[in-house]
Amino acid sequence: MAKQSPSCFPSSDVVFLDRGNGTSVLVHLHGATILSWKCHGQEVLFLSEKAVFDNKKAIRGGIPVVFPNFGPWDLGPQHGFARTKRWKLEVPPRKDSSGNVVAEFILEDNEATRAVWDFRFRLVYTVQVMDKTLTLNVTVNNVDSKDFDFTCLLHTYFRIPDISKTAVIGLQNTKYVDKVKDGEKATETREEIRIDENYDRVYMDTPSEIVVGKVADGSHSIIMQTFDFPDTVVWNPWADKAKGMSDFGDDEYINMVCVEAGCVTNRVQLNAGQKFECSQKLTFVPATQ
Ligand code: BG6
Repeated sequence: MAKQSPSCFPSSDVVFLDRGNGTSVLVHLHGATILSWKCHGQEVLFLSEKAVFDNKKAIRGGIPVVFPNFGPWDLGPQHGFARTKRWKLEVPPRKDSSGNVVAEFILEDNEATRAVWDFRFRLVYTVQVMDKTLTLNVTVNNVDSKDFDFTCLLHTYFRIPDISKTAVIGLQNTKYVDKVKDGEKATETREEIRIDENYDRVYMDTPSEIVVGKVADGSHSIIMQTFDFPDTVVWNPWADKAKGMSDFGDDEYINMVCVEAGCVTNRVQLNAGQKFECSQKLTFVPATQ
């Protein structure tokens, strides 16, 4: 079983946002990685059975936070360092008058981050669990006296019953870069994207609403809405690549798809003292059959 309940971890490592009625979110302080989002008892996120929890390696699954760089990076690790740093719980989970639960996490520069990327920053990550909606807000504060630029992304792994019965809808007519084909550019023609091979595309200037998993197999789907995340990455490593990943099961590609909201095509320029905010809202749509 993937480790998606608080009892699998030392209590000092995880934060549990419990809205009641089978709706909850579990966050690991390593990377502020969301490990689980249960909506009315249904797990929405994929977490690999082989995910490593050594507080060093990035956690394979859930929603890792990618900052200050998406993809390979000359200065440091792929996808930056935010997903492999210990975040601080700034505001512990608390319920508002509607029963929604909110918590706030922060990551600030330290000697180790400045050794890689010499800037002072403060990331604020707000996680809000509503009845059928999970809202994630990222605020990047430049607290330095010099300007910097970055890319960032929420690397959401969706749990799906079967990739062959899953569609990603909403990207028709958008341009994309195909990372599997050496960065070849093309325009998406399909209304429903079906995946049946190693798939790694950066869709650019995407609509602010995308549906994941809406197929007639009786399972739920998710509506993903994004705010100031202009790009959407769609990724599934498929069988051969899966075999080469030590923290991912050989057959797990069948049960996951990553649909990642990001600012990745153009680096965000952030002047000294300024802040930048982006967010995604995921809404659970129960099965209709
Ligand atoms: C995706 C990238 O966002 O993340 C892929 O587009 C990459 O190229 C994938 O393979 C997983 O990256 P990582 O570093 O978590 O293995």
